[in-house]
Amino acid sequence: MLNQKALEYKKRNMTIWNEVAPRYHKRWASVSEGPFQSTSKLVELVNICKGDSVLDVACGTGVVTKEIRKKVGSLGYVVGADTSTTAINIARKWNDKKHNLDFLNIDAENFSFSKKFDIITCQYGLFFFPNASKALKNMKNSLKKSGKIGISVHGKREKVPFFSNILDSVIKFIPDYIPPGSPDLDRFGTKSALRKEISKAGFSKISVKEFVFDYSPGKFENYWNNYMKYIAKPLKVKLNQLEYSKRKELKQMVKEKTSQYTIKNGNIVFPWQVLILTAKY
Ligand SMILES: C[S@@+](CC[C@H](N)C(=O)[O-])C[C@H]1O[C@@H](n2cnc3c(N)ncnc32)[C@H](O)[C@@H]1O
Repeated sequence: MLNQKALEYKKRNMTIWNEVAPRYHKRWASVSEGPFQSTSKLVELVNICKGDSVLDVACGTGVVTKEIRKKVGSLGYVVGADTSTTAINIARKWNDKKHNLDFLNIDAENFSFSKKFDIITCQYGLFFFPNASKALKNMKNSLKKSGKIGISVHGKREKVPFFSNILDSVIKFIPDYIPPGSPDLDRFGTKSALRKEISKAGFSKISVKEFVFDYSPGKFENYWNNYMKYIAKPLKVKLNQLEYSKRKELKQMVKEKTSQYTIKNGNIVFPWQVLILTAKY
């Protein structure tokens, strides 16, 4: 049973994803830049064969699912599962209609399938599940004994300065910006933490690879303005409530933190650590 706080978080998170999915797809997932260079790496690492059946958990707008579909060909079968209806609708449009591709509105913590899959993937989803153990157990129960999983997560916050430069500063001005009961989104951000969680769920032959992708958000003003533009509504509201002078101070704090990454022509280049785990049933 999930506690009340976790249930409230899941509801809030669903609302957020329904709101941000179009922007997320346009700016991030569909562009394959920065952290999204992981999409092709993940698909490569799980070694998909023609005819395989694959489940993509927390598929979002379907960018990983699309690559998987190409690999399994017309004899395979692919399911993308997500709790955001907006994301699923984009995924359906972004992926051509195919007889062997389904997108389902499914919670990673509550699913079962009558037929088992050869491969299950989950890119940038695991840390959103308050009960990640339950989601992993569901994955294991839905996997063939010969099956494999592939999971991508972001590294620890200090290894992803694109986020931490802004969010570590925001917390100084808005200490309660993260509602109580929210899971720690970088809790699987080290090789050992990720490995431990997967091993707890009973998977074997675990391997975790580290990637550091470059990501350039442009010059500081582009970084700041785009971050503010693409941010989810609840934080946007809180930021807009800050006094003008505080907002200015916050921006200056972020600018100072970012300066170590600024390269000669003024464009920022952030390193972005991503971990990709593969494991067998
Ligand atoms: C960062 S996006 C990743 C989407 C996609 N895998 C990709 O790589 O673009 C995270 C996704 O997790 C989904 N999500 C969050 N909690 C979920 C849950 N409990 N069950 C299924 N999906 C969930 C969100 O709706 C969102 O689409």
